[in-house]
Amino acid sequence: MRSRADLVTRDVDEAADALLRGGLVAVPTETVYGLAAIADDPAAVSRIFEVKGRPADHPLIVHLAGADRLDGWVDGLPAGALDLALACWPGPLTMLLPRGQRTPDVVTGGRPTVGLRVPAHPLTSRLLEILDTGLAAPSANRFGKVSPTTVEHVLDDIGELLDPSRDRILDGGPCTVGLESTIVDLTASPPQVLRAGAIDAETIGRILEGPVVGAEGPSRASGMLERHYAPTCRLVLAESDEAANTAIRLATDAGESVGLLDRTDDLVEAARRLYDDLRMADRSGKTVLVVRLPQPVGMGIALRDRLTKAAAR
Ligand code: TXA
Ligand code: MG
Repeated sequence: MRSRADLVTRDVDEAADALLRGGLVAVPTETVYGLAAIADDPAAVSRIFEVKGRPADHPLIVHLAGADRLDGWVDGLPAGALDLALACWPGPLTMLLPRGQRTPDVVTGGRPTVGLRVPAHPLTSRLLEILDTGLAAPSANRFGKVSPTTVEHVLDDIGELLDPSRDRILDGGPCTVGLESTIVDLTASPPQVLRAGAIDAETIGRILEGPVVGAEGPSRASGMLERHYAPTCRLVLAESDEAANTAIRLATDAGESVGLLDRTDDLVEAARRLYDDLRMADRSGKTVLVVRLPQPVGMGIALRDRLTKAAAR
């Protein structure tokens, strides 16, 4: 068993060295931990796909130090992009923009767009400043599984797949938001929200002073697959306390080991803890987890999205 000390560091310079030598570094962000490589190093980016077990046609988000670093990564800014960047960055918003020459094919899966985001975490902001380039990073979990929001989650998921002679995990503590960034496609007209997150469509519409729609057409982002963010136990979603009680009774009668997850009184906390709650249900041997769904407003929209995908079989 590999020890934690071989991979985990709090030293940003050590993380920068690993990346500059072509290694991978799991980095903390406000949303979830990402598995990063230097975005214009195609060989390093390819290893992300191997470690994650992710299909090559699922593009990666490029993380930048600031909205003043877009040069080369994008080819022109659609209306509203700058307004959103100024209002939401650093923060949990990814914008799909026309791809620039600096963005390699391996990052976008050959698409004409690139997903860009400026994350809000002091260690990763410093790392990006030191590197002075973009970091390509998906969530640091195996493909289709629950995203990691602590260093322990990263170690559990991919610790054995990282190489201590060249890779690192940068320890920035638990993630404060806990759900992946909102993804808005600004190359569509009107703009489309492809993945719900802490910044909701209503807020984006207010900033853009125009209409914003949900995803349309065939799946444009892997987060839109029907089954995703999935624990091993079976999730049963309940719209009311009554429905939750009935589900608990039925599953218990069927001989299942049943847990209840109800954080509807504090949705910010519910988001921050969701992925740890799902992992905990598996660790404690639950076979069924009954989840009380929040109302579909604000963070409740993103929570319902993740829970619905985690519940799909
Ligand atoms: O909060 C987040 O966004 C985290 C942190 C690490 O930044 N990252 C994250 O990455 O969740 P990932 O790869 O797990 O999810 C990004 C989603 C994927 O579904 C991917 O297919 C989609 O964004 N995506 C990225 N670039 C895209 C593009 N150019 N066109 C369409 N979808 C894109
Ligand atoms: Mg992911």
